Amino acid sequence: MIIVNDIEELLKESKKLKGSVGFVPTMGALHKGHLTLIQKARVDNDIVIVSIFVNPTQFLEGEDLDAYPRKEEADSKICKLAGVDILFMPSVEMMYNSDELSITAPAIRGFILEGTKRAGHFDGMLQIVMKLLNLISYNKPSSFRAYFGKKDAQQLVLIQQMVRDYFLNVEIVPCDIVRDRDGLALSSRNVYLSKDERGRALSLSRSLKSATDMILKKEFNVEKIKKEMLLSLKDVDVEYVELVNRQFQPIQRVELGNTIILVAVSVGKTRLIDNLWI
Ligand code: PAJ
Repeated sequence: MIIVNDIEELLKESKKLKGSVGFVPTMGALHKGHLTLIQKARVDNDIVIVSIFVNPTQFLEGEDLDAYPRKEEADSKICKLAGVDILFMPSVEMMYNSDELSITAPAIRGFILEGTKRAGHFDGMLQIVMKLLNLISYNKPSSFRAYFGKKDAQQLVLIQQMVRDYFLNVEIVPCDIVRDRDGLALSSRNVYLSKDERGRALSLSRSLKSATDMILKKEFNVEKIKKEMLLSLKDVDVEYVELVNRQFQPIQRVELGNTIILVAVSVGKTRLIDNLWI
């Protein structure tokens, strides 16, 4: 595995490698969720490239940019063991040469849920993903796939739309959410949780389970499902519970195969999101 911190070097090294490229963009502090994406990329492709970049433009004022866990050494070990070919870890200066954002998230999908709670977050996220996709595919690999987790459902849907709207030559591969045994969706931010908070955080997946149980009993009324979910969200500050279709439009009734159930809460100072694709 080659570790590259420089764009010129990335382009030079990636030019040497021949075949299909699988790319996994991350912000580091890698866990099994990230690892699953990397392993899938490894199975599907000749070359695997991972990026680690804590992208400042997707953090809002007062969010955890400075505190965000940085574990370069452990992360590079994980990547090496997983058979990554190139680990790209650029500096902020290298990725941003102007402070103006040139991509904004579409209002219809970008300004609801996470988009309202974290206004501007998706603009910064889309900009860095566009930059990374362009850099990694610069040498025109025979095929180019990029792997994203359903854990960040709205992010995934916005990236898929950007790829369509800007005619990017990349296949976006959505990957299932990886959870701990107790149901908590893995996240780099879980390290912020105290033992007590971690226990309380389990109500996220529990609320999704209560929604699934209702749907299995053929209850498709969104208001009723939301009410039940809110009841199971105990000892956490609920930001939103929402059911949308795969285009992120609000719905009144669950449509099997076209529904995402989303929940966002704060547990102490930590903000957590989870979702279920039905
Ligand atoms: P990060 O939070 O590091 O996540 C990197 C990728 O891992 C994302 O596609 C995310 O959805 C996926 N992921 C995280 N936890 C997961 C889990 N428990 N199961 C499955 N996949 C999971 O998302 C970002 O970074 C950034 O916004 C990024 C796309 C890198 C742009 O800066």
